[in-house]
Amino acid sequence: MKISVVGTGYVGLVTGTCFAETGNYVTCIDINRGKVDSLRSGKIPIYEPGLEEVVLEARGVNLFFSTEIDKNIAEADIIFVSVNTPTKTFGQGAGRAADLQYWEKTARQILDNSDSPKIIVEKSTVPVRTAVAMERILNSNSKGLSFDVISNPEFLAEGTAIQDLEKPDRVLIGGRETPSGQKAIQSLVDVYAHWVPRERILTTNLWSSELSKLTANAFLAQRISSINAIANLCEKTEADINEVAHAIGTDSRIGPNFLRASVGFGGSCFRKDILNLVYLCDFYGLPEVARYWEQVIKMNEFQEANFVSKMVTAMFNTVAGKRIALFGAAFKAHTSDIRESPALAVCRELVGERAQVVLSDPHALENARQDLGATAEQVIFEPDPYTAAREAHAIAILTEWPQFAELDYQAIYDEMVHPAFIFDGRNILDHRALFETGFNVYAIGKPPLTSFAS
Ligand code: UDX
Ligand code: UDX
Repeated sequence: MKISVVGTGYVGLVTGTCFAETGNYVTCIDINRGKVDSLRSGKIPIYEPGLEEVVLEARGVNLFFSTEIDKNIAEADIIFVSVNTPTKTFGQGAGRAADLQYWEKTARQILDNSDSPKIIVEKSTVPVRTAVAMERILNSNSKGLSFDVISNPEFLAEGTAIQDLEKPDRVLIGGRETPSGQKAIQSLVDVYAHWVPRERILTTNLWSSELSKLTANAFLAQRISSINAIANLCEKTEADINEVAHAIGTDSRIGPNFLRASVGFGGSCFRKDILNLVYLCDFYGLPEVARYWEQVIKMNEFQEANFVSKMVTAMFNTVAGKRIALFGAAFKAHTSDIRESPALAVCRELVGERAQVVLSDPHALENARQDLGATAEQVIFEPDPYTAAREAHAIAILTEWPQFAELDYQAIYDEMVHPAFIFDGRNILDHRALFETGFNVYAIGKPPLTSFAS
């Protein structure tokens, strides 16, 4: 198959690479020339374990990078569209609806450059019923061409993207129930069947597929907000959230995954997709349903803000002028991605409180610096956590990088200002051992361990 992928961001690059790895001829297209040039020269713009090896092996053999949308559209059998679909910042639905301008522009470019029928695959997360608009744009042509739009949402998670693609829980493909729609679905099933067992390839109608993506992300985020909500109650009642999570997770109906209480969820998808779901519910006259899902976001916003409040309260109600080392900038471990990262929300709040913030992360510091904009001038960026914590009053763990759990906290403690505080926003440290070292320890959903009389 000749496959073109339009939009070589996180999703496009990883999926395009995987299609090449499985024997297809793939061109990844992007309007960003700098990104394309860097990929052509073998530099991977994102940190994703295992991705570089696969790209370097296929690059120039059956994986190509280009800015030329026209030529590559004309030659492709299947076109995957993975341009970004951010939250709208203007006009109707601002702050909630998806901004589909790049998607629509891409559809028109596909139309302008096609002289044979094509299969167009929605890879970007889009609102349910987006395919109607795309079909109308594509099929309103005077060339007599017909296009099939199918939905094939991406479920890969950053940090484990390669294994998620190589061994997916399932692949979802939605299409029209017409003969040509079914034929298009079959073409894509054949592409995946090279490495995915047939029973893991689910086919549905278009709308179920589009809605399943939003629903999957909403359910995942809802679990985190649910466990975080209970974590707050634990902090008031001397229950321990890890024990509660384990106790409920052993119920096979609930299951153990995605029950890690934290400073909050981040990433480019959860917030955007739930806001989009909320907008759709309101749009379709279902305000009660909209408010239900909106609460998942509000709980997450509370979790981030409350983490900072707890820090300030614990540190005698002021952090002004105090050096605070933040361990972690990425929105989760094993990625350099900082989009919607709770670490940066905490960083901004603490800068607002006039703390002297030192940010440390093994892979995400450069992205963090860019994302923080003017605030970056008030932040120290320090890759070495030992240096970051030297003479600090407090440490906050904000990303669950495993290396943060392996540091020599006795050595760190010895060089900090005392009383020394540690706030574990990811519950990855040995809290009892830290307390015995001398730290005042505050974790998520656990009673604090402090040397102060209450
Ligand atoms: C994003 C969204 O986060 C995800 O929900 C959606 O499903 C797909 O888009 P991601 O790949 O992480 O996922 O986004 P991003 O890294 O921003 O990549 C989008 C790429 O599309 C960028 O490289 C951008 O330059 C490119 N693009 C955008 C085009 O090539 N053409 C356009 O018209 C617009
Ligand atoms: C998510 C979905 O998992 C993926 O299927 C979809 O395609 C894109 O969105 P991603 O954003 O890469 O993937 O990461 P994910 O592992 O889902 O984590 C999202 C956030 O939730 C991170 O900030 C993570 O630290 C946090 N998280 C996750 C928790 O706080 N607790 C948990 O138990 C799990």
